[in-house]
Amino acid sequence: MKLLTLAIAVVSTVIVLSVTAQETVNPGGLATIRGVATIDETRPAEKLKRVIKDKNPIARNYVHQPPVVPHQIRGYRVDLNSNKCLSCHSWKYAAETGATKISLTHFETRDGKTLSDVSPRRYFCSQCHVTQADAAPLVDNTFEPVESLGNE
Ligand code: HEC
Ligand code: HEC
Repeated sequence: MKLLTLAIAVVSTVIVLSVTAQETVNPGGLATIRGVATIDETRPAEKLKRVIKDKNPIARNYVHQPPVVPHQIRGYRVDLNSNKCLSCHSWKYAAETGATKISLTHFETRDGKTLSDVSPRRYFCSQCHVTQADAAPLVDNTFEPVESLGNE
């Protein structure tokens, strides 16, 4: 009998707790990057930003930063059979297209071997190189770029 009472007590505690958990999905007015919205609320996605069309390279902020892409890349396919980025940025085509050549590091495997063509770990360019939009920063940032890279 004692055991039954205990079991009932445990079960009712679990029910009470789960009901309370459901009621506390409201983050209490805390504004996050997704805005002030309850956790169970699906907000409409933000409008896509217009990617800049600028052609001049954008100054880098720190050594070893993958330079950001100063042009649109919509429709540039990168798959098993072709890599649109390399049709301009490879050493073979860079001179005629005026694009920056991929650097020597892009020929190196993770074991430090230098290949005769772009290394598989550098094949999917937009994994590291991203386009830019004229958008306000999501969070405040006091990062100062280093002067040696030509930043003001
Ligand atoms: C039609 C040719 C073309 C294609 C295709 C192309 N680019 Fe470019 N890219 C350029 C040119 C031209 C520049 C500007 C170079 C300059 O002005 O010095 C550039 C600049 C860049 C830069 C800046 C380099 C730097 O030193 O700051 C990056 C990064 C870049 N492109 C990445 C990409 C990626 C990633 C793709 C594929 C998704 C791509 N590009 C496809 C022509 C191209
Ligand atoms: C895993 C991350 C990564 C991938 C993938 C990658 N890059 Fe880079 N890229 C970098 C970094 C980091 C730098 C700057 C340091 C360096 O040169 O290695 C860079 C530099 C560059 C530069 C400037 C070279 C210079 O001499 O200033 C170009 C152009 C570039 N990448 C194009 C590409 C293209 C095109 C692809 C796809 C074929 C690609 N990258 C894939 C990380 C990456």
